[in-house]
Amino acid sequence: MIATALHRALSDPTTPALRPLPPRAVELLVAADAPPRLAAHLRAVHDVAAQLLDWLRRRYPRLVVDHEAVLFGAATHDIGKCLHPEELSGPGSRHEPAGRQLLLTQGVPAELARFAATHARWDHPDVTIEELLVSLADKVWKGRREPDLETLVVGRLAGAGDEQPWAAFMGLDDVLGRIAGDADARLDFQARYPTHPGR
Ligand SMILES: [Fe+2]
Repeated sequence: MIATALHRALSDPTTPALRPLPPRAVELLVAADAPPRLAAHLRAVHDVAAQLLDWLRRRYPRLVVDHEAVLFGAATHDIGKCLHPEELSGPGSRHEPAGRQLLLTQGVPAELARFAATHARWDHPDVTIEELLVSLADKVWKGRREPDLETLVVGRLAGAGDEQPWAAFMGLDDVLGRIAGDADARLDFQARYPTHPGR
């Protein structure tokens, strides 16, 4: 039986209208008895990732992106905070390797578990577009802009769209500005849920 607050965080259809998480992500969060606030956070970031993917599909149809991987990554990136709940309300990165390990232990393939370990780092040379998008969603959901991260995304977009980086930046800046405009509603949604399981 799902704890009530966790169930509400996972299924609440009210304002803001956030897409439901992928079923496998829900299973994993329930199995881990996730803090409701974590589930709410993952819904917010997952919804922003979906908005970014919708925009990319329209504007950069030739950009190759594994949409399912991005959505799963956004929906589980902080799952390690089930094991390190103090990092829900304070700094810390212990949840990153712990989250990856938790997912691997549950049979999640390494290429999907990786987001739990990499979502806060985008400066490694092998970073993929999928990882960049999960990291971007994890910033802009609360209206935060990260110039270094956005520059990396712009590089991928300009290459896929045969356009100058400035033009790619203008388009990205526009969509990120629109998404960031709803940040307060997402922050309110997340804050409604407790940081401890089962309350
Ligand atoms: Fe996050």
